[in-house]
Amino acid sequence: MLRKSKGGWRCLVVPVLAGFVVCASLAQPAWAGRKSQDKKAKTEQQSAADKQVEQLLEAADKADASQYVGEDTCLQCHDDMAKSFNEGPHWKTLQDQRRGPAFQGCEACHGPGKAHAESADPTKIIRFTALTKTETARRCLRCHQYGKDHENFLRSAHLKNGVACTDCHSIHHFNVGRNLLVKAQPLLCYSCHLDVKPAFSMPYHHKVNEGLIACTNCHNPHGGFLTRQLRSTASQDVLCFNCHTDKAGPFAHEHAPVKTEGCVACHMPHGSPNPRLLRRSQVNLLCLECHTLTVDQIAPATPTKYQACTLCHVAIHGSNTSPVFFTP
Ligand code: HEC
Ligand code: HEC
Ligand code: HEC
Ligand code: HEC
Ligand code: HEC
Ligand code: HEC
Ligand code: HEC
Ligand code: HEC
Ligand code: HEC
Ligand code: HEC
Repeated sequence: MLRKSKGGWRCLVVPVLAGFVVCASLAQPAWAGRKSQDKKAKTEQQSAADKQVEQLLEAADKADASQYVGEDTCLQCHDDMAKSFNEGPHWKTLQDQRRGPAFQGCEACHGPGKAHAESADPTKIIRFTALTKTETARRCLRCHQYGKDHENFLRSAHLKNGVACTDCHSIHHFNVGRNLLVKAQPLLCYSCHLDVKPAFSMPYHHKVNEGLIACTNCHNPHGGFLTRQLRSTASQDVLCFNCHTDKAGPFAHEHAPVKTEGCVACHMPHGSPNPRLLRRSQVNLLCLECHTLTVDQIAPATPTKYQACTLCHVAIHGSNTSPVFFTP
């Protein structure tokens, strides 16, 4: 009932708006129709192309040696690729014949090239612009997954957020030869992580912009087991020990948070407005976040409120001689 009466109401209104509505409704279907046809054609084209790429990748895994032509053939038509290939490290793949042509030269990355070399049809060769980020990573990881630096890439925050090898590295158009980077650090990292940049201009900061240490001293851009893609020491300890070895201990008397919560319980790792990269402007405020002191805990007649706690508790990262960290 309700539906019917609604329809009837619309029928009455339409003629009233006739002039305007008719024009619009005549024009619209034609225009909208063309557009949706366009869109459909595009997605059909797109999914056909996607299928082709998938088939190429699958075929590459199965191809026998006869499907490979060698880089000399490729360079007959692509001589502009010779320079980057020879100046980068990948020419070395030619010297390693153990795994056959699928791991050598241009075709190590671009897949078997016979069909493409004969037809010059660009859809018959693996083009990285046509691959998804994960497909790209897998292509590279066929060789680079070994070793602790890259084995975690497939579950890294970078890949999970759509950042793949070719966002940071370029095989043919690199700007920094060492590591084939598209940009030097830290600019490479700032190009996406603009939000961390201000910290490195604070009054106290790790000298990354000055080139003394790099983002990748602390982070592994290829991912890892720790949060924030942080690196760790060889013994899987906090990464800071890599450089600040004197803080590592073990101490007869550990200051618990150094080991349990880590250095960032008290320090800002990138930069800080406070000396020693501390989280608080006054040492005391920092200590009192965790320690509530009662009168009998404090040495008599010490005006602790006004003195830096570390004036007396000097060995704040741990001590071998004093349970209250008076001496190292
Ligand atoms: C007979 C000449 C010829 C040979 C041999 C040849 N190519 Fe090509 N290749 C072409 C042409 C033509 C194109 C299309 C050019 C374009 O799109 O700019 C192309 C395109 C490509 C592309 C895609 C470029 C893009 O647009 O992303 C890649 C990758 C490629 N070739 C790699 C290779 C490799 C690897 C080999 C050796 C296995 C090889 N080619 C051998 C002629 C050749
Ligand atoms: C280590 C992997 C790898 C090797 C080896 C390699 N390529 Fe590439 N190629 C790529 C990637 C990745 C791209 C996408 C652009 C980039 O990252 O520089 C690419 C892009 C291309 C393109 C597209 C045009 C362009 O300028 O980007 C052509 C053509 C090409 N490669 C041909 C070759 C030829 C010829 C060889 C051998 C001499 C070769 N490639 C060796 C990975 C490789
Ligand atoms: C066929 C195996 C193979 C494939 C596939 C491959 N690489 Fe390599 N890659 C190598 C070898 C071998 C070296 C040289 C290692 C050395 O010098 O010890 C190398 C070195 C590198 C380096 C270090 C450069 C330097 O200056 O030390 C980077 C970066 C790199 N590859 C990135 C990539 C990327 C990105 C891809 C995918 C587009 C890729 N590789 C695919 C074998 C491969
Ligand atoms: C977010 C940027 C980024 C991504 C994504 C990335 N890399 Fe790297 N990669 C770097 C930087 C920066 C270095 C130099 C590290 C250093 O100086 O310690 C490097 C170094 C390397 C090296 C040489 C040093 C080494 O550890 O052996 C290889 C090989 C390499 N990357 C391969 C890859 C491959 C393969 C992928 C994809 C599976 C990839 N990278 C993804 C930034 C990246
Ligand atoms: C192409 C863009 C891009 C580049 C270049 C890039 N990153 Fe990232 N990075 C991302 C995205 C996107 C994420 C995931 C979202 C996020 O946490 O910000 C991420 C995540 C991270 C994380 C983990 C953050 C977390 O919350 O867990 C760290 C650490 C990191 N990147 C460091 C680096 C370093 C170091 C470099 C330079 C070697 C670099 N990134 C280069 C885009 C990029
Ligand atoms: C001295 C070691 C160190 C250096 C150098 C360093 N980081 Fe970090 N970074 C850390 C630590 C530790 C954390 C985790 C902080 C936390 O958990 O509170 C972190 C966190 C991050 C995060 C996660 C988001 C955030 O702000 O907490 C990103 C993104 C990041 N760093 C990017 C970078 C980039 C880009 C560079 C270089 C310009 C860089 N880092 C240099 C130690 C470092
Ligand atoms: C790659 C080596 C390296 C790593 C890793 C590293 N640092 Fe540093 N750190 C330095 C250097 C070098 C300095 C002193 C030079 C400067 O920046 O003025 C420094 C300075 C400091 C200072 C200030 C010291 C002072 O006297 O003012 C603190 C605090 C600090 N680091 C804490 C950390 C923490 C926390 C971590 C882990 C998140 C860490 N560092 C990781 C190299 C490193
Ligand atoms: C409980 C808080 C706390 C923790 C956790 C902590 N620190 Fe500190 N750290 C301090 C304080 C406070 C100072 C300043 C001491 C002073 O005022 O003399 C300091 C100073 C430093 C300094 C500069 C002076 C020196 O002794 O060399 C470095 C470097 C440093 N810390 C590194 C680290 C590292 C690395 C870690 C993790 C292993 C860490 N800190 C964990 C509180 C802490
Ligand atoms: C993140 C929390 C945290 C911060 C910040 C912190 N501490 Fe502690 N501190 C602890 C914990 C936890 C213990 C171990 C307490 C226990 O075993 O009962 C401890 C132990 C101590 C002890 C040994 C005495 C005892 O009760 O075992 C002293 C002294 C001490 N802290 C001084 C300081 C000073 C001085 C600062 C500031 C520079 C500081 N702490 C900052 C958490 C913290
Ligand atoms: C003038 C030197 C001095 C200053 C400054 C000082 N302390 Fe102490 N602190 C002591 C003495 C002395 C003891 C008792 C040591 C003992 O029992 O052997 C002590 C003991 C402690 C203990 C251990 C208490 C317990 O249960 O045994 C903690 C925790 C502590 N101080 C934290 C702090 C904090 C936080 C500050 C800054 C707000 C601070 N101290 C400032 C001298 C000082």
